[in-house]
Amino acid sequence: MVLMSGDINRILITGALGQIGSELTVDLQKTYGIDNVVATDIKEPKDDLKGAYEKLDVLDQDRMRQLIKEYDIDTVYHLAAILSATGEKRPDLAWNININGFCNLLTVAKERNVSKIFHPSSIAAFGPETPKINTPQETVLKPRTIYGVTKVVGELLGNYYFEKWGVDVRGARLPGVISNVAPPGGGTTDYAVEIFYDAIKHQKYTCFLKPDTKLPMIYMPDCLKAFKQLMEAPIENLKHHTDYNLGAISFDPTELVAEIKTHIPEFTITYEPDFRQKIADSWPKSIDDSAARSEWGWSRDYDLKAMVADMLKVLGERYQRGEL
Ligand code: SER
Repeated sequence: MVLMSGDINRILITGALGQIGSELTVDLQKTYGIDNVVATDIKEPKDDLKGAYEKLDVLDQDRMRQLIKEYDIDTVYHLAAILSATGEKRPDLAWNININGFCNLLTVAKERNVSKIFHPSSIAAFGPETPKINTPQETVLKPRTIYGVTKVVGELLGNYYFEKWGVDVRGARLPGVISNVAPPGGGTTDYAVEIFYDAIKHQKYTCFLKPDTKLPMIYMPDCLKAFKQLMEAPIENLKHHTDYNLGAISFDPTELVAEIKTHIPEFTITYEPDFRQKIADSWPKSIDDSAARSEWGWSRDYDLKAMVADMLKVLGERYQRGEL
C-alpha cells in the first residue's frame, strides 16, 4: 500500500451550501487561505459567498474529476448527503447521493492522488441493539434508517480505500449539529435548531419529538474544531479512521426548553411527535468518545448553557437586522 496522506494545501468541499458546508467553507478559507478552497454544491451560490465556487452534482463523476484536476485538489471535505428523515421518504435518493456520490469521489481520489478526504459518519450508524448510554467506539452497527445504512457502508468503504489504496479517509460519527447560519434540512435532530428560530420569532415551538428524547448534539464551533483536529492529526496517532465516536452535549427537549426559558421566560413548547420519533428512539443518548480524545485530542468547548446563550445572542442579532 502506498500511503497518500499529506499536507492540506488545495481543498474542495462538496455540499458547501448546506448547514455545515456554509460555515466550514469560511472556516477553511480563514485557516488555509481563500485561494486554496473551492466550494461546490448542486445549488446556485449565495451572493455573500467569497472565493471560488463551482456547481457540482456529486453523481457527475466526470465533472468531479475535471474540478479536482483543474484546481489541483489534494483534500476533499465531502458533505453532500441526504439526512435521516428525508432518507426515509426517498430511500433511493439517499442511497444514490450518499453511496454513489461517495464512490465517485473515492474513484477519482484514487486516480488523482487526492491524499485526504473527510467523510462524516453519524450517530445514525447505530441502531436499537446498540448500548444507548455512553455508546462504545466498537459496538453493534445495525441501523434501521437508510441514512444510517449509508453511513455504516460509508465508514466501511472509507476504511477499505485507506487500507487497500492508501487514500487517507477520515471521519467522525457526528451528533446532531446545532448552528445559526444555514438551517439543517431533513434531519431528526433538526428540532434543536428550529426551536431557537421559533423562540426568537414567536416565543413558542411545536416539537416533533417527545419531551424526554435525549440525543447527542454538538454546537457548530465545536463541530468545526473537531473537523480540523481530526484532519490535522498525525496519521501515526490514528488507530481508527472513518468512524470516530464524537460526543459533546446530550440533552432532551425538556432540558433545552428549561435553558431557553432562562433567557426567554415566556417561551412555551407543545409536543406533536411524528415519524421522526421512531428514528430518534433507535439512536444513542450519549457517546463514549475516548478514542477521539486520546488519538487526536478532541474536547468540546460548549456545554448546554454556553451553546444556548450563544445561539440566542447570534440569532437575536440576526432577527434585529431583519434576517430571520
Ligand atoms: N443530524 C442527522 C439527522 O438527524 C444525524 O446525523 O439526520
